[in-house]
Amino acid sequence: MNKVNAQDRINKLRDLINDYRYHYHVLNESIMSEDAADSLKHELAKLEAEYPDLVTPESPTQRISGTVLSGFTPVEHVSRMLSLNDVFNEAEILAWLDRISKSLKTSDFDLFIDIKMDGLACSLIYEDGVLVRGVTRGDGYVGEDVTLNIKTIESIPLILRPTNKYSEFLKGRTEVRGEIVMYKDDFEALNKKRHQANQPLFANPRNTAAGTIRQLDPKLVAERKLYFRAYDLIRSDAAEISTNDFAYVMLKELGFLTNSDARIVNGIDQIMSFVKKWEDKRLTLEFNTDGLVVKINDRLVFESLGIAGKAPRGAIAYKYAAEQTTTIVKDIFVSIGRTGVATPVAILDPVVIAGSTVQMATLHNEDEVKKKDIRIGDSVILQKAGDIIPEVVEVLPQLRNGSEKIFIMPIKCPDCGTKLVKLKAIDVAWRCPNIACPSRTWKRIQHYASKEALDIEGLGEKNVVALLDAGLIKDIADIYSLTPYMLLSLDRFGEISANKLIKSIQSKKEPSLDKFLYALGIRHIGVQTALDLAKKFKTFENVMAATVEDLVAVEGIGEVVGDAVVEYFSDPINQRLLNKFKRQKVWPLPMKQYKGKLEAKNFVVTGTLTSMSRDEAAKKIRSMGGNFHTSITKDTDYLVIGDKPGNSKVIKARNQNIVTLSEREFISLLD
Ligand code: IVH
Repeated sequence: MNKVNAQDRINKLRDLINDYRYHYHVLNESIMSEDAADSLKHELAKLEAEYPDLVTPESPTQRISGTVLSGFTPVEHVSRMLSLNDVFNEAEILAWLDRISKSLKTSDFDLFIDIKMDGLACSLIYEDGVLVRGVTRGDGYVGEDVTLNIKTIESIPLILRPTNKYSEFLKGRTEVRGEIVMYKDDFEALNKKRHQANQPLFANPRNTAAGTIRQLDPKLVAERKLYFRAYDLIRSDAAEISTNDFAYVMLKELGFLTNSDARIVNGIDQIMSFVKKWEDKRLTLEFNTDGLVVKINDRLVFESLGIAGKAPRGAIAYKYAAEQTTTIVKDIFVSIGRTGVATPVAILDPVVIAGSTVQMATLHNEDEVKKKDIRIGDSVILQKAGDIIPEVVEVLPQLRNGSEKIFIMPIKCPDCGTKLVKLKAIDVAWRCPNIACPSRTWKRIQHYASKEALDIEGLGEKNVVALLDAGLIKDIADIYSLTPYMLLSLDRFGEISANKLIKSIQSKKEPSLDKFLYALGIRHIGVQTALDLAKKFKTFENVMAATVEDLVAVEGIGEVVGDAVVEYFSDPINQRLLNKFKRQKVWPLPMKQYKGKLEAKNFVVTGTLTSMSRDEAAKKIRSMGGNFHTSITKDTDYLVIGDKPGNSKVIKARNQNIVTLSEREFISLLD
């Protein structure tokens, strides 16, 4: 990006961020998620770092957060309450370690790592062991006196706990800093009560905690359950506390709640293993957290590094990957799937989201692109949650510069030139009707060979395309006529790899019925439906002969699936393919009686599991003979309840007396 473009982008980003802040802080409403706003702020900071002369004093990056509200007395902090600079990945942690190693002329120093609590910072002042004042952070120099309010928080000692060992801490001035948080459960309960009373709901625990502390009526504060969790201890004589580790020991001794998981670590490996350990586990904490705090353990060394801007050089905040981020749509192309559906796909400026780099996102269909008005060149908010593939949530039209292009759905298939059609007038999807379309063919073959299907090792995307391009295969059944000699005519194969691939193809001539049914790529037949069909009909011949009535009689199979199956087997092209399979002696085995611990048990999962993805849970259930379904029917045996479960499923399960399992109970059942 050149400087003129950078200036333009910076101006637009500042406007949008300011707009976000105004809505959030003044109007108490939100125009985008915090993750998305953070992502924009990060982009702005990066651009400003690249062009430092474009930084202006009023840029949102220069703002010192928090202002003193009227109604509370301003109090000057004896030592400034600092913020932390954020880092988002291992490389940025390493760069920080490098910087301080250079400054300290050694890379051997202990660090103290703790979970970063998402609440509001508060400073408590004790004189001779007695709580005299509670002050918010404010702008870091001056905060608000909220003493009466914080005195209602029961985890804040009104007098320091007597300690014989360290009696000096009970004399003179002691300052304790920490975070005021509302626990997730208490927040849910509060909102539930408000819902029942028809009151507006709170957005999140942090805002609720912050709003509560800023209430002018302490009685209202007392009604809300808040906790104070300490992370810093300051004495007039700094020598009394040499390390952060010791500060935590003392805080506990004096009667404060601290995070017992905080640790001393040394070096990047130990930092990263703490980062990984808490990546998922943090969701099980009673309070919200979006990251970790890493600081130099030795407080003199920490002080010696000084402050840059409003953050100390000796500490950083590591932020876990956000589930929303912003990026730019560089192009939109149309991808033809194995059933012929033409899907517009956005090519994105690569971004890391929820831990992985994303370069493409499906835009689903033409209507969706129109509805969201996604244009080539647009800045967009991208979202990824759990196992779900990344999705463009919305466009940020405020960031347009006039060069964006409207996407026009092509009339013809980009791969074979056949005119795209809609099967039914009400369909949203355009399709390439040509069953021999190269895109459709290679995706069908790849699907057939994929892990969940026949699991043919070595038959990935590149090899399939090479075999098709060379004219060695035209459909799935052709793979069984390949010989090592034929493969050797292609550059990609040597003797060993050719023999290996042929061996793995030939070893899959008698697949299990369910795998084969799935592998054929019949519309609407996923792994579980294929298994249901196989269990019910036992042989492939029976499935081929089944009528729609026979099919819909199977639990979990409706008319759409029934029609798709019958349609597949009555299509002459598919019949030819199946005959070809038969000639090659490729035929699925009749279904064996499945024996497993969860034999024939039907499972449904609601909400997010913390220890495994939904797909992993489904796989485990199936591997033990059980079935995994997405909705509750009269045959459901177990409902596994994860985090943020769907209410309707839970209620349905209760009404039908279906056994409900917590994640822990589910895991012990699997064990
Ligand atoms: S140590 C120089 N430890 O995060 C500040 N801070 O972005 C060192 N916070 O101002 C602070 N949990 O309000 C520390 N375990 C923790 C924390 C924590 C939350 C807050 C705190 C701080 C802000 C920095």
